[in-house]
This record gives sequence, C-alpha cells and structure tokens, in this order.
Amino acid sequence: MNVQTMMVIGAGQMGSGIAQVAAAAGFRVYLNDIKQEFVERGLATITKNLNRSVEKGTITEEEKQAVLSRLVLSTDLADAKDADFVVEAVTENMAVKTQIFTKLDEVCPPHTVLASNTSSLPITEIAAVTKRPEKVIGMHFMNPVPVMKLVEIIRGLQTSDEVYQLTEDLAKQMKKVPVSVNDFPGFVSNRVLMPMINEAIYCVYEGVATPEAIDEVMKLGMNHPMGPLTLADFIGLDTCLYIMEVLHEGFGDSKYRPCPLLRKYVKAGWLGKKSGRGFYVYN
Ligand code: CAA
Repeated sequence: MNVQTMMVIGAGQMGSGIAQVAAAAGFRVYLNDIKQEFVERGLATITKNLNRSVEKGTITEEEKQAVLSRLVLSTDLADAKDADFVVEAVTENMAVKTQIFTKLDEVCPPHTVLASNTSSLPITEIAAVTKRPEKVIGMHFMNPVPVMKLVEIIRGLQTSDEVYQLTEDLAKQMKKVPVSVNDFPGFVSNRVLMPMINEAIYCVYEGVATPEAIDEVMKLGMNHPMGPLTLADFIGLDTCLYIMEVLHEGFGDSKYRPCPLLRKYVKAGWLGKKSGRGFYVYN
C-alpha cells in the first residue's frame, strides 16, 4: 500500500509534532482535534518550529511553505475517510481512545492503518474495538517529536507483518529510527524511564537531596541531557503518574508504586512546565 494521506488526531504537543514530521516527509496530513482553536494552536506551534529552522538555515522559506501547504486542519473525524494511515495522539485515556478507534473503523476505507501514539496503554485492547485488529499498531514518538529520533513500534497481538513493515517504512520516511517492541505495559521506553523518574521523586520525598542536586547528579554523572525531575516537568507530572499507575496495575508489582509526592503534586495542579509549576517554577 502506498501511503499518500495521513491524519493525526490530537493537535497538542505530540500530535502537532507528528503532523510536522509527516508533512515534512511529503505526506498530505489532516491535523484533527475537537475544536478549531486547538488545531490552530497546533498549526501555530508547527509554524514557529519551521520559522526557527528557516532562521537557522536548515530549511528554506519555500520548503517551509511546502510543508505548511500539505497540512489540512480538521475538526471532523469523518475526514479520516481520505486517510491511508491515521495516528491517534489524544489524551492517555482508554475510554477516549476506544471511542475514537470505533469511529475511525466506521469511517476509514478497509485499507487504512490505525496507529496509536499511546505511551503505555495496550494496543491489543485498543485494536479489539475495531473490526481490523490486524491493521492496528502502536507508533510511539518521543517529545519533542521534531528532534527525537526514536519511534517505538508496538505490535498488538493481532497486528499483521505487512502492517508492521508499512509502519516501520513510514517511520523511516519521517526520518525516525523505528524499534520493534511487543505489547506489554509501558513498552520499553516508559518501563525503563518512568521508574527512574519515580525513584528521583522518592529521593526528593525522603529528603535525600534537592531537585537541583538530583538533576545535577544525573546530568553530570550519567550524561543525561536533562535531569529526571526537569524531564518529569517537561513530560507533565500527570502523564508520569498515569504511566506509573499503568505499570503498577499492569504488572501488579509494588516496585512500580507511584511516589506519594508525585500524587500530591498532581492533586495540587502542579503538573510541571505546562501549568507553570512542578519540581521547578516556570514563567
Ligand atoms: N520542538 C522542536 N524543536 C526543539 C524543541 C521543541 N520543543 N526543543 C528543542 N528543539 C530543538 C532546538 O531548536 C535545537 O535544534 P538545532 O539542533 O537544529 O539547533 C535542538 O532541539 C536542541 O535544542 P537546544 O539547544 O535548545 O537544547 P538542548 O540541547 O538542551 O536540547 C532537548 C533540548 C532535545 C529537549 C534535550 O534537552 C533532550 O534531549 N532532553 C531529553 C528529552 C527526552 O528525554 N525526551 C523523551 C521524553 S519521554 C517521551 O516523550 C515519551 C513518553 O511517553 C513520556
């Protein structure tokens, strides 16, 4: 199958990044969300990123215009009837995702592949609400999408080899490096990353060191580009808590219990960078 048109559902941080790299790879891309202001905000983020690339000389003004011309804003999920490949990147909520996949299965032509950018929810369960489970797959991009090379490709129990191959090729066309992972809670990225972040939060909770000191240890001692608490703020503390809960519930193992301090921050609305406060304060 030759993918020409894609749809990205969810115009937030991840969705707008995915739409940007897909349009840059030459695909026509519908950027879909429930409200016009959300898709316009997504387009503004993409335009800002592209303007920065023009200023840096990594792309020309013509290339920027060509990428923007391939983006189509949409607030109607029925537009997915034109798409060969859909990437869902909405909030990490199983009920919302299954509702979207049920609708997509109705409106998309039989050949359309339905991918989810979920960071931890089971692909097999999402696939089960459709009549095409062999065409449902996980395509987990990393934040910030235009910069990070990795895409975890998650095979659901029934994902076909053809769909896997197509998704891997698509990731490469989007200038990403695909890595194959089976469908278990947190996949690989978040199963390894989140317990480290959670442990860093326990270090704050138990008074082992300040957030600044913990981040300094991991940056200077382990060469991480960001310390774990800065990274947690950047990802969103609500997302970190949610993923820890998915791991805890999915494995039933107490080693994944979320730190009480993480719960407290989320309850207080300290969600990290996006809310202005997490382990650090942002302007
Ligand atoms: N969008 C687009 N481009 C961005 C960007 C953004 N939000 N933030 C930074 N960039 C670009 C910059 O323009 C710059 O580009 P050039 O090299 O072309 O000049 C490049 O990234 C480097 O940026 P900076 O020099 O400003 O800053 P930096 O060197 O500190 O890099 C970073 C920033 C890439 C974010 C780096 O700090 C980093 O790699 N951090 C860790 C990120 C990480 O771990 N991401 C995974 C999160 S987990 C996840 O996403 C999965 C999940 O399910 C939770």
